[in-house]
Amino acid sequence: MSRRRRIYEGKAKVLYEGPEPGLLVQYFKDDATAFNNEKKGVIDGKGVLNNRISEYLFTRLSEIGVPTHFIRRLNMREQLIREVEIIPVEVVVRNVAAGSISKRLDIPEGTNLPRSIVEYYFKNDELNDPMISEEHITAFGWANPSEIDDMLSISLRINDFLSGLFFGVGIRLIDFKLEYGRLWQEEEMRIVLADEISPDSCRLWDIESDKKLDKDRFRRYLGNIAEAYREVAQRLGIIQETNIEELSNTKADLTVRGKS
Ligand code: TMP
Repeated sequence: MSRRRRIYEGKAKVLYEGPEPGLLVQYFKDDATAFNNEKKGVIDGKGVLNNRISEYLFTRLSEIGVPTHFIRRLNMREQLIREVEIIPVEVVVRNVAAGSISKRLDIPEGTNLPRSIVEYYFKNDELNDPMISEEHITAFGWANPSEIDDMLSISLRINDFLSGLFFGVGIRLIDFKLEYGRLWQEEEMRIVLADEISPDSCRLWDIESDKKLDKDRFRRYLGNIAEAYREVAQRLGIIQETNIEELSNTKADLTVRGKS
């Protein structure tokens, strides 16, 4: 299908060579995995929805001054991004206990945390992304202290902003995962937000009902996964309301409400 050179293939995305050096094309697949590839599936329309949701969130974040790799969306499944050197550290920010913190520390899911908690994980599938501390990050040279400071402060700003943005559309931002990269421009190096922010990488609960609107629907066999992602996009005003029937064959044809 594509004659472009494939640079990298992850579980939910592919990176292709871009139109000029320093640029890449990020393609969003419908594939989903959980528990590090133990559970696999295809969620029709997920790639289209995540492309739109991530475009929307990265655009809003860059408007408040968060540096990102995002340039623009190219089509239903692809966006143009700046090539960065990915830092092999996943930054997780938590507001409410759920998932692994609930298990590890025996805190019931849905418990408000005393304050937002930031955790680091080593991005390494073979090792199943183990949790690490700043000590590991600096000792093994994955990032230096000033890069960690940047990642931490940007992540907390993103948390404040996104918590408010989602609250405004009746969604509680429980937790999310971020990735960062190094971007060189001339002699300068900056840390920029990379990868994606979507219901694949966040926990999003309806404020009223606690209904899960994220990848936990896939991880926990709750069903109606694409419907939930679509609801997030609709609430954010990215796509128009259409009837749910259409969703089952929503391969590509999502109605777009204006340009964002
Ligand atoms: P966790 O509770 O499983 O540690 O996940 C915390 C948040 O990070 C949750 O919103 C899902 C997201 N996440 C990813 O995006 N990728 C991953 O590989 C993992 C483990 C979590």
